[in-house]
Amino acid sequence: MESVSIRDVATTAGVSVGTVSNVLNHPAKVSPATVDRVHAAIDQLGFVRNDAARQLRAGASRAVGLIILDGSNPFFSDLARGAETAAEQAGRVVLLGNSDQQGQREAHYLDLFEQNRVLGILISPVGDVTERLARLRRRGTPAVLVDRQAGLTPFSSVSVDDVRGGHLAVEHLVEIGRRRLAFVGGPLGLQQVADRLDGARAAARSADAEVTLEVVEVPGLTVEHGRAAAAELMARPRTERPDGIFAANDLVAMGVLQSLVMLGDLRVPGDVALIGYDDIDFARAAVVPLSSIRQPSTLIGRTAMDILQDEIDDPTREPRRVVFAPELVVRASTVPGSPPTS
Ligand code: RIB
Repeated sequence: MESVSIRDVATTAGVSVGTVSNVLNHPAKVSPATVDRVHAAIDQLGFVRNDAARQLRAGASRAVGLIILDGSNPFFSDLARGAETAAEQAGRVVLLGNSDQQGQREAHYLDLFEQNRVLGILISPVGDVTERLARLRRRGTPAVLVDRQAGLTPFSSVSVDDVRGGHLAVEHLVEIGRRRLAFVGGPLGLQQVADRLDGARAAARSADAEVTLEVVEVPGLTVEHGRAAAAELMARPRTERPDGIFAANDLVAMGVLQSLVMLGDLRVPGDVALIGYDDIDFARAAVVPLSSIRQPSTLIGRTAMDILQDEIDDPTREPRRVVFAPELVVRASTVPGSPPTS
C-alpha cells in the first residue's frame, strides 16, 4: 500500500503543504479550526509522519524499538543488554521505551517508533496490543513479543514457561516441609504473573501432604509492594502466618525479606521460607541470599532480537515461539547454608 504523503493530507484538508507542516511542527501558528481540519485529514488517510526520512538524510543508524514493562527491574535491563548485543552485531541500534506497566505509555512508544520508522519492535506487552502490532506489520514493521508467550496471536515470541516456573517454586517449598503457603504478586491481569500462580496452585494441589496456598494480590511487582504485603501477613497471630512465601518476582521477594528481617523476631527460613522469580543479581546479594526461579533474561533478549532481524530481512517468515525452561536456584532463604553464588 502506497504510503500517504504530506501533500495528500494538504489536498484532502484544502490547505498548503506548508500549513500541514506547521500543524505538525508549530501548531500554535495555525488557527484551531485549520489544525482540526488537518488532523481530520491525517486520521482519514492514516498519514504517519516520516521522521526517519530526516534521520536517514542525517545518516542516522537504522534502529529497532524495545518496549519493556519496568525500567527499574534488573530482569529487563539484562534482557535489553542481550537484545542490544544482537542488534549491534547486525549493525543496528536499539531505541528503548519503558511502559511502566501503563497502557498509555506503551501506546506512546509505539507511536514514536512508528513515526521514526524503526525496522522492527520487541515488546513485553502491558495489555492486548495484537491489533496495533498487526497494523504495524501491515506497514512493514514486524514485532516479536518478549517475556510473553504469543498464544493465539500471529507473532513470534520468546519467554520462559512461567506455569512450570510457578510449579517449581511451590514444589520446592513443599519439599522443605512448608505447608501454609502464600503467593504474593500482581496484578493478576499480567500474563506472566497469572501463569506463575497457575503453576503454584497446580503444585499445591498435587502435593502428597495437605498444603494451603493463599493469594495476596498486589497492584505492582515492586520492593514496596512486597514489603507492605509481608508486614500484613506477619501482623497475624503466629499460627495464622504462612510458613512459606512465593513472591512473583525477586523485587517483591526483596521487599518481603526486608519486612521479615525488620520484624526482628522472625527467622528466614526457620519460621518463613521465601522464594522469588527471575534470579536477578540482587537475589544472591540479599542479606539472606534469595532462592529464586531463574529466567535466562539476557538470552531471551538476544534470541528475540535474532528472530526480529530474520523477520526484518524476510517479512514472509513463519512466526517462531521460543519457550525456555525455568531453573530452580536454591539459596539460604529456603535451605540454610546453601551457597549464595549458585
Ligand atoms: O515485570 C514483571 C515481571 O515479569 C518481571 O519481574 C519478570 O519476571 C517478568 O517476567
